[in-house]
Amino acid sequence: MKKLTPENLTEEVLGRLSGCFSPRKKEVLTSLIQHMHAFAREVQLTTVDLMAHENDAANSAEASLLGPFYRKGSQEKELGASIAAASTGDEYVLVRGRFRADAKGYFEFRTARPCYYPIPTDGPVGKLVLGSGSHPYRPAHVHFIVTAPGFERLVTALYIEGDQYLDTDVVFGSRGSLVAQYKKNERPGEPDVLEWDFVLAAAKVPRYAVPA
Ligand SMILES: [Fe+2]
Repeated sequence: MKKLTPENLTEEVLGRLSGCFSPRKKEVLTSLIQHMHAFAREVQLTTVDLMAHENDAANSAEASLLGPFYRKGSQEKELGASIAAASTGDEYVLVRGRFRADAKGYFEFRTARPCYYPIPTDGPVGKLVLGSGSHPYRPAHVHFIVTAPGFERLVTALYIEGDQYLDTDVVFGSRGSLVAQYKKNERPGEPDVLEWDFVLAAAKVPRYAVPA
């Protein structure tokens, strides 16, 4: 998939307006996008400024969106436990949890296989997206926040190989470097697995472990 950079992002976003049926709406959105992107470039806006954390070390994992379904204070679970739990009275499946890697940094958990889904289209953002002629879908993904003493906090996600919306994520969150592929489990009868190594950037400001 195409790598999004600060240099080509504006062109990519404007390309999504190709299906916009209203010339006036297209004119307004084109100008808005160009000005907003120019502003972000001029002040070198970072995710730190947007209440997240920058992660720009050369070989560390790319950052991605935190997303609106994050909740603080998820329950810590045993390595290998499942985070999938059907919610009550809602079509969504709530899948979140917190794990502590072992001494070697190894972690494992179970979850439901993610699927692409639409962002809400009944509010102003949805109307803007649909009005621009774009679709409202995000490709299948699993969010991660990875922290360790002495390293920058990583807010990212893994995107699932083969998803039809990988290249046209409505919120431009998917990254080629974050696409993962399911593979057969070496343990007979067990579900397919995603394997991933998260590489963290060294902290710019030293952090220290808090004694238990
Ligand atoms: Fe998400």
